[in-house]
Amino acid sequence: MKQIYLIAITLFFTIYFIGGQRITAQDKAPNEQKMKLFIDSLMSKMTLLEKLGQLNLSGGVGALDINAEGDKRLDYIRQGLIGISQGKKEQEIAVNESRLGIPLLAGRDVIHGFSTIFPIPLAMSCMWDVDLIEKHARIAAEEASASGINWTWSPMVDICRDPRWGRIAEGAGEDPWYGSLVAQAYVKGYQGNDLSAPNTIMACVKHFALYGASEAGRDYNNVDMSRLSMYQYYFPPYKAAFDAGAGSAMTSFNVVDGIPATGNKWLMDELLRKNWGFNGIIVTDFTAISEMIHHGLGNLQDVSALALKATVDIDMMAQGYIGTLGKSLKEGKVSQVDIDNACRRVLEAKYKLGLFSEPFQYFNEEKARQINLSDEHIKVAREISARSIVLLKNDGQLLPLSKKGKIAVIGPLADAKLDILGTWAISDDTSKVVSVLEGIQQTMKGKGEVFYAKGSYATMDTFLLNRNIGDRPRITRSEKKSMEMLNEAKNIAKKADVIVAVLGEPRAWSGEASSLANIDLADCQKELLKALMATGKPVVLVLANGRPLTLAWENENVPAIIEAWHGGTMAGAALADVLFGDYNPSGKLTTTFPVSVGQIPVYYNHRNTGRPYVDGYKFTTKYLDIPNEPLYPFGFGLSYTKFEYSNITVSDTILTPDKILKVSISIKNSGKFDGEEVVQLYIRDLVASVSQPVKELKGFQKIKLTKGETKTVTFTITPDDLKFYNADLDYVWEPGEFEVMIGGNSRDVNTVKVNWSK
Ligand code: BGC
Ligand code: BGC
Repeated sequence: MKQIYLIAITLFFTIYFIGGQRITAQDKAPNEQKMKLFIDSLMSKMTLLEKLGQLNLSGGVGALDINAEGDKRLDYIRQGLIGISQGKKEQEIAVNESRLGIPLLAGRDVIHGFSTIFPIPLAMSCMWDVDLIEKHARIAAEEASASGINWTWSPMVDICRDPRWGRIAEGAGEDPWYGSLVAQAYVKGYQGNDLSAPNTIMACVKHFALYGASEAGRDYNNVDMSRLSMYQYYFPPYKAAFDAGAGSAMTSFNVVDGIPATGNKWLMDELLRKNWGFNGIIVTDFTAISEMIHHGLGNLQDVSALALKATVDIDMMAQGYIGTLGKSLKEGKVSQVDIDNACRRVLEAKYKLGLFSEPFQYFNEEKARQINLSDEHIKVAREISARSIVLLKNDGQLLPLSKKGKIAVIGPLADAKLDILGTWAISDDTSKVVSVLEGIQQTMKGKGEVFYAKGSYATMDTFLLNRNIGDRPRITRSEKKSMEMLNEAKNIAKKADVIVAVLGEPRAWSGEASSLANIDLADCQKELLKALMATGKPVVLVLANGRPLTLAWENENVPAIIEAWHGGTMAGAALADVLFGDYNPSGKLTTTFPVSVGQIPVYYNHRNTGRPYVDGYKFTTKYLDIPNEPLYPFGFGLSYTKFEYSNITVSDTILTPDKILKVSISIKNSGKFDGEEVVQLYIRDLVASVSQPVKELKGFQKIKLTKGETKTVTFTITPDDLKFYNADLDYVWEPGEFEVMIGGNSRDVNTVKVNWSK
């Protein structure tokens, strides 16, 4: 019976091959068995080169062809030698003119929006609102899919403790538990419930693995880490994203345990596929295969074989697969099964995306016109942008500002549009971008006066200015012009009641290949800030940047500081919402702000030392010249109102394995505004077989409190929340004493102790 059924299905698909070749149909709902038969049948017709073509994401097909463009590239697609490419014309050629008509995957870096640009991912993570993160991803997928994209190389879920690393902007900060929730939200938002629908796209979890731990924060640098730390701190967000059904993974550039991730069989095959059960596609990062030559793993043929053996499916841009796997097959260095498995996984991804039945479903120009930067999307962007903002300081309740009087808006980022879109904004369309100046002007219209001066360049440092310019003309800055700008700013500042200084980083200073050793505000910007302070007028410092900065001087001297990040299309409007109190800020940092780069890595969930810091004692862990504590800890962020935590209580202090622990705390809004607070739960395992972190985030609740209101917040803890990886890498909990902490950030917590026995 079963056999007849199989034959019938095979026949059903075969008749859709026009002339025994072209594929024009598949069933909509991915049924594993049907998919298998369909792909079996297709693969039985494929030549070796056509199979390798499915693994080839590139402009060309050989070492000499790296940059093949235009007609040549189209011709390769026609020959079935490229399996992944963008563009409607490309898809038409693949489907209508290649021998087997296999459609293309179309991947792009849709990192924080497509046309409507949202804040950089690090900023969005500060919302502590995974539903909104998911909503942003849904909108990004809607927009991208209408423009032909069916695969995004996002989310980047690399844990990072080093703000020098420019790519910290692309992730969700330093916490594995929260990072896991964020990772899942992205995947759900992009992929929805039905990957084959025309408005969903495949997610790609990157960069697997440990890319965020690059030594010294220098991009592409080495990583060296114990297995314990991998499991405890770095793997959870990747795992969570795969558990949420992410269809693909991207390898990282770095070595993992000495072996480049891209050729690391333990990492990809043992851990990711066999242990975690991931069966989707693995794509390399850009030229990561050929980079293994520099890592010292062999020539292009050797390293390509290594990657394939590690079960890496798609070669992005190195042309090692298309160029050498045929030879390796002949020489017995890889097997036909290795190639077939990879090819099958790529075809499966295409099948699941619905590409075999509807290869053009992702091209919908009419829809794109309607939804890209639509009012509805812009509205969500504004909300997300406002909620991503973190209030770092607000002495004397300088903020919110009143909508009257004279405001001087000053700084190199004040009227910037491209810069506040942030790194990896794939649309450079600034037509709807609201700069900070414009946001303030719109709010103040008819109510008061707004003056503007740029005040300074972003930097005068010619080394920095020319570091990433390639062969473009060298950039220099004129001292004279710089003085003129400063003087103009001072004059304008004198006329104002309050100064809003918008300083920070141009977008090119964060993101890929944009590491910085010095994360202070640039000298000329600091000089401007000091000059503005010297006027004696109240100064609000607004930061537009892609990474944590070192702000010790600013924190000491400037009364109000707002971390507004690179906030995307609606950055300026959202900032005005916060500045004038139309939105009471509720963002909390997901990454630690150090006092000085000398502290890096500095992160809240560190293990204790044998000599924890004791004041006044010499032989204790410390620096002589700076404190151990960061400037702003993980989880920190202020509100215009004030939240008072009191009366932490537990349901039990002595617990057995079957017990559930309830921990409650009372929170009072004792300030003058309604507001939202992110209530955070941390746990510390006081005695374990492996040294445990001094605290670990295990829960949070974002609550709203009207002024004067008090609420009791309750968290539930089970032994599952106490688990960690032991020396054998088993995920276990051990009985004993635990501290349970609740607070508004990772530093200021209320603590109770419980004992949990086995
Ligand atoms: C980056 C990836 C990105 C890829 C494709 C690489 O250089 O590391 O994050 O997805 O390029 O643009
Ligand atoms: C130091 C050792 C020293 C010992 C005895 C410790 O604090 O770390 O190096 O030998 O004191 O003086």
